[in-house]
Amino acid sequence: MIYQKRPYTVPTLFFLALFLISVIVFFSTRTTLHTASPIHPDLFLRVQPISPPPPPPPPPPPPPPPPPPPPPLSSPATSQTLTVGYADNVTDAESDAQPVTEINETVGDDAALNVKECDLFTGTWVRDDNYPIYQPGSCPYVDEAYDCKVNGRTDTLYTKWRWKPDACDLPRDVPTEASTRNAFRFNATDFLLRLKGKRLMLVGDSMNRNQFESILCVLREGLQNKSRMYEIHGHKITKGRGYFVFKFVDYNCSVIFVRSHFLVKEGIRLNAQGSSNPTLSIDRIDKTSGRWKKADILVFNTGHWWTHGKTARGINYYKEGDYLYPKFDAVEAYKKAMQTWGKWIDNNINPRKQIVYYRGYSNAHFRGGDWDSGGSCNGETEPAFNGSILNSYPLKMKIVEEVIQGMKVPVKLLNITKLTNFRKDGHPSVYGKKVPTRKQDCSHWCLPGVPDAWNELIYATLVFQQTKSKN
Ligand SMILES: *[C@@H]1O[C@H](CO)[C@@H](O)[C@H](O)[C@H]1NC(C)=O
Ligand SMILES: *[C@@H]1O[C@H](CO)[C@@H](O)[C@H](O)[C@H]1NC(C)=O
Ligand SMILES: *[C@@H]1O[C@H](CO)[C@@H](O)[C@H](O)[C@H]1NC(C)=O
Ligand SMILES: *[C@@H]1O[C@H](CO)[C@@H](O)[C@H](O)[C@H]1NC(C)=O
Ligand SMILES: *[C@@H]1O[C@H](CO)[C@@H](O)[C@H](O)[C@H]1NC(C)=O
Ligand SMILES: *[C@@H]1O[C@H](CO)[C@@H](O)[C@H](O)[C@H]1NC(C)=O
Ligand SMILES: *[C@@H]1O[C@H](CO)[C@@H](O)[C@H](O)[C@H]1NC(C)=O
Repeated sequence: MIYQKRPYTVPTLFFLALFLISVIVFFSTRTTLHTASPIHPDLFLRVQPISPPPPPPPPPPPPPPPPPPPPPLSSPATSQTLTVGYADNVTDAESDAQPVTEINETVGDDAALNVKECDLFTGTWVRDDNYPIYQPGSCPYVDEAYDCKVNGRTDTLYTKWRWKPDACDLPRDVPTEASTRNAFRFNATDFLLRLKGKRLMLVGDSMNRNQFESILCVLREGLQNKSRMYEIHGHKITKGRGYFVFKFVDYNCSVIFVRSHFLVKEGIRLNAQGSSNPTLSIDRIDKTSGRWKKADILVFNTGHWWTHGKTARGINYYKEGDYLYPKFDAVEAYKKAMQTWGKWIDNNINPRKQIVYYRGYSNAHFRGGDWDSGGSCNGETEPAFNGSILNSYPLKMKIVEEVIQGMKVPVKLLNITKLTNFRKDGHPSVYGKKVPTRKQDCSHWCLPGVPDAWNELIYATLVFQQTKSKN
């Protein structure tokens, strides 16, 4: 051996030791990074005798989670079909997704908007005693018209149905810890976190006010202190007022309702007799549109007012420019109005920052008449699971689909028509007022009730979109 022939000086030995230690440190570091196969095992073994024993190699790092399946890129053939749901084998990376802080980066991602997780709107209602999300009579934001329990409705089965898409599960509450890995819960707190710093605005008629009250009640369930939300002007919700702004203090988010029956501009004109008559300018956007621009997430609807008397008759009512049509077809007018709306969205909404939903038509269930001619729906306590009502899909919806297809800004269609068709049991009927009335409401919905599901679908699309953007 070399040191037997010629003893080394102390400094030489010192530097040699230093060198050997560096080598050891270098390779033991490498070893921790490449535990499975040290690159030079022989060298490693050679230095071992003169070094302190290296620390035991750390346990191998867990293998990286398998890459998530690529999002189904939407092609005409697949865009309506969900291939990635929340199956039992969802990966940890997905189930831990907390994309809240990323919502501002992911919202409006074109690719994400065009990819669908599953067709959320083909499915059925299943009985679920975990429902309703909030107890009847417990939410102060339900106005009299929808407060069926308080108005005397005693049956409660209508509150215990959950919408179940055929091809996947909605993200929803799973009551036991053991099953939390299987699916996202419907979790109102999580919904609030996803809305953090955002303005969610519902624009439309009283059906959208119905949905607005529902979402206030659903989100309220996510608050630890239920007093930490308020209407910023102090207004109580009534049908007489057309603008409400609710602030959720701890989440810095607002949920807003803007009334706009037609989305296009209502006006008045003086007729030959000097009295004022209503008009509708189908080529001009509604005057509330200035407010729409300021929302991060918009939910539009219109439809029910297009079947009312003056709108349906169309006599001296519809305007384009300064021209007043003596007579104009209501369906044609609806189409032009939707095109006006679509053009406004394309010109004023930034799809990288804002999300636009259009909530589809919610069918009524009048028997033996209409809303203004003695139709009824009282005594209905269960959904209809068969019958022709299930397939009713109004021409207005086909127009909406056509307009949306022609738009630049991707609009998410909340295609809830079919889902509502089942629910002949969900209307206020005679419980739309504290004082019983003969005129029944078979168009709007009791709360808790069907609009809660529409809001769960909004939540679902946000979860799916954000999860996908993470992938
Ligand atoms: C997850 O489950 C689906 C259907 O249940 C199956 O097709 C798929 O291969 C599974 N994926 C993994 C990673 O196990
Ligand atoms: C997103 O929000 C975070 C904090 O909430 C902020 O720091 C970040 O700048 C925002 N990013 C964009 C692109 O707005
Ligand atoms: C609901 O979501 C919040 C925020 O993501 C989370 O902290 C909480 O644990 C969730 N609740 C349940 C019951 O899973
Ligand atoms: C609250 O959200 C608004 C946007 O809606 C944002 O401008 C503001 O900075 C946020 N405030 C805080 C304290 O995060
Ligand atoms: C709940 O919030 C309200 C309004 O901020 C506050 O006055 C009240 O003290 C809070 N209650 C609890 C139990 O924290
Ligand atoms: C629907 O089903 C119920 C019970 O399953 C049955 O009594 C009723 O006659 C059916 N109605 C129609 C229109 O098929
Ligand atoms: C919306 O739902 C109806 C009824 O289920 C269906 O006929 C229609 O194709 C759906 N539209 C879209 C765009 O998925």
